[in-house]
Amino acid sequence: MNFTILTLFPEMVNAGLHESIIGRAIENQTISVNAVNIRDFSEDKHKRVDDYTYGGGAGMLMQAEPVYRAIQSVRTEQKKCRVIYVTPQGLPFHQRMAQDFAKEEELIFLCGHYEGIDERVLEECVTDYVSIGDYVLTGGELAAMVMIDAIARLVPGVLHNEISAETESFQGDLLEYPQYSRPRVWHDREVPQVLLSGNTRDIRAWRLEQSMKRTKSRRPDLYEKYEKLQEISKKLSRKKIYHMDMIEGISRGYLSLVEEDESGCVLISSDERYYYHACYEPQTETFIVPKTLDKNAIFVEHSTYCAFGEDCKEYLIGALTRREKLPIRGLYCEDGKKGSAGISIVPYEKAHEALIAKWGLNPGDMTLAFVACYQDIPSAVIALQRDGSIGQLYVEPSLRRKHIAMALVTYLCNKMLENGQVPFVYLPKEQSDMQELYKKTGFYVSADSICMIQPQEGL
Ligand code: ADE
Repeated sequence: MNFTILTLFPEMVNAGLHESIIGRAIENQTISVNAVNIRDFSEDKHKRVDDYTYGGGAGMLMQAEPVYRAIQSVRTEQKKCRVIYVTPQGLPFHQRMAQDFAKEEELIFLCGHYEGIDERVLEECVTDYVSIGDYVLTGGELAAMVMIDAIARLVPGVLHNEISAETESFQGDLLEYPQYSRPRVWHDREVPQVLLSGNTRDIRAWRLEQSMKRTKSRRPDLYEKYEKLQEISKKLSRKKIYHMDMIEGISRGYLSLVEEDESGCVLISSDERYYYHACYEPQTETFIVPKTLDKNAIFVEHSTYCAFGEDCKEYLIGALTRREKLPIRGLYCEDGKKGSAGISIVPYEKAHEALIAKWGLNPGDMTLAFVACYQDIPSAVIALQRDGSIGQLYVEPSLRRKHIAMALVTYLCNKMLENGQVPFVYLPKEQSDMQELYKKTGFYVSADSICMIQPQEGL
């Protein structure tokens, strides 16, 4: 992912973003950060970029032309990317917005100074107005740096343990639990006993309880949302496998509530790409169409009665509800090393990009992906997708029937189980071989199907 910052103070941005985790990601080319000096685009012989405001008033304004030329210099016709103007007048920046921006390949940040920027160039070029809070800074640089840091850490490969990006503060409407390191006793304060027990289930339960307590006292607004969604999750659990995508989406903080009545609920994904509808009673034919339904969004309908007719894609839901890890069965060795079956498993990295493109897969939707090598040659891939489902399972056609798919499913499921996630998958209704593969691995498969549809096609 490439970040370009248009600024009068490129050194400030470079100094702030070339350190630590973001600095390392730049060094290993997972992301790039390019600070461009707007002053270089001034036609004035003194390189001035500001002037007085028409109509009077205190302070100077950045002129339209140098800003316009700076934008044009980094944005080509082919690369029509988002241009974000950082301003206290923008929409408040939050984690969901960071997730949305993290899906882009290119982002341009425009930093203002003085009293701001001539309105006309903003109207012509800016796609997003974003603020980092209700206070006024001396310029946009610090705000851009804050946003770039929050976005970059969501780009696959920036954090080494990528699942961790999903289990921190602000995921699941709960704040993170307290953490401790050595020494065991410090200033007479002891590390809570449970953390020394080695019992992962107890530790997880304790952490959840602490997260709830902390959220309730520090952020009652978030806690209220959390409780409401927990109630919904409980109702959905009456038909657990069928609703596993929604239950997991709630638990991972990927879904929030749009509407609920006695017949069911509608949830929306954090990237606003998906709406999920569920009926609390299977027979209900009442149907909530959310007032805010976006025509580009995909509707995931969990109901035996589908209001969209016959054109939609039908899926069964497969879920692995056990908590113990799956047996490896000699498919590969510990840590994915090559076993007697000739299969090894490695994390997906940039070097695999061309292969993924050749296989027609979409790296943008992957949050965690693994590549299987057969006799050391990359031959297959699997991903944990943004919505929490397992997907993008692909095996080179010439290497099928060698248990490579089974090895990848096992490996990814075990990673997810280590993180307390429930593996689930959307299985196309007509692909019985795929259903068999997951059943063999230990998944339960729903009896009823869900359907996915884009409202603009179906309504
Ligand atoms: N520029 C000045 N203040 C700002 C803020 N709070 N957010 C974003 N950009 C800014």
